[in-house]
Amino acid sequence: MAIKKIGVLGTGQMGAGICQVAAAAGYDVVMADINLEVAEKGKAGIAKRLDKAVSKGKMDAAKKDEILSKLEPVESMAAFEDVDLAVEAATENMELKLALFKKMDEACPDGAILATNTSSISITYIAAATKRPDKVIGMHFMNPVPVMKLVEIIKGLATDDATYEATVEASKKMGKTCVTANDAPGFIVNRILVPMLNEAVFALQENLGTPEDIDEAVKLGLNHPMGPLALADLIGLDTCLAICEVLHDKLGEDKYRPCPLLRKYVDAGWLGRKTGRGFYQY
Ligand code: CAA
Repeated sequence: MAIKKIGVLGTGQMGAGICQVAAAAGYDVVMADINLEVAEKGKAGIAKRLDKAVSKGKMDAAKKDEILSKLEPVESMAAFEDVDLAVEAATENMELKLALFKKMDEACPDGAILATNTSSISITYIAAATKRPDKVIGMHFMNPVPVMKLVEIIKGLATDDATYEATVEASKKMGKTCVTANDAPGFIVNRILVPMLNEAVFALQENLGTPEDIDEAVKLGLNHPMGPLALADLIGLDTCLAICEVLHDKLGEDKYRPCPLLRKYVDAGWLGRKTGRGFYQY
């Protein structure tokens, strides 16, 4: 099936990034969040990033205008009535995602693909909340979306081949490289990454070093672009905790237990960059 129009549900850091790369690839994009004001804020954030790219000479002004003209913030999912693909990028919470998928199933036309950007939750389970489990798929972008090359594609038990192929094609058109991951908690990236981030928080809790030293050790010792605590702050500590909980709950092994210090930061509302404070202050 040919995808022309995409609906993105959730215009936070991941959702807005997805809107940006989809519009840059030439898709018409409708942006929905809890209301129009929030969706418009998502578009304003994209405009700001594009302005920066223009001022750095990385993009010409005409391309910026073209991308912005493809982005339409809307009041609600009612505007998904003619999309070919809907991508959900809401908070990493199982009940919320199930409720949103039920609504998305009603709002989107028959035959539209319903994709989720979940970082860890079962695609099969989310698909079962809809009347079209064959058209539900995982489309997991990495943060920051405009920079990171990967999209993990995850088929649920019922996902059909046409849905898989159309999703891979759309991801490639957005400039991404796809890997196919099995529908298992955390898929590939987060199954490997999140235990490492969690271990870095244990290292901090146990006073192995300051946040700066832990991050510098991993950056320079392992050649990572940023340290694990800074990366956790970028992803959002609430998201990291939610993924840890899914790994721990669904895989049932102690090695995935969330670090108490991570939970404490989330309890404090210190969620990383998005709240101005996490392991670092922003
Ligand atoms: N949105 C868009 N572009 C961004 C951006 C953002 N939030 N942050 C940085 N960039 C762009 C910058 O504009 C810059 O672009 P140009 O080179 O075209 O000017 C480029 O990225 C590099 O940025 P900086 O020079 O400011 O900083 P940097 O060189 O330190 O790179 C980084 C920043 C790209 C974030 C880099 O540190 C990095 O790659 N970090 C690791 C990120 C990572 O591991 N992400 C995966 C997380 S896991 C995940 O997302 C899955 C999940 O479910 C949790």
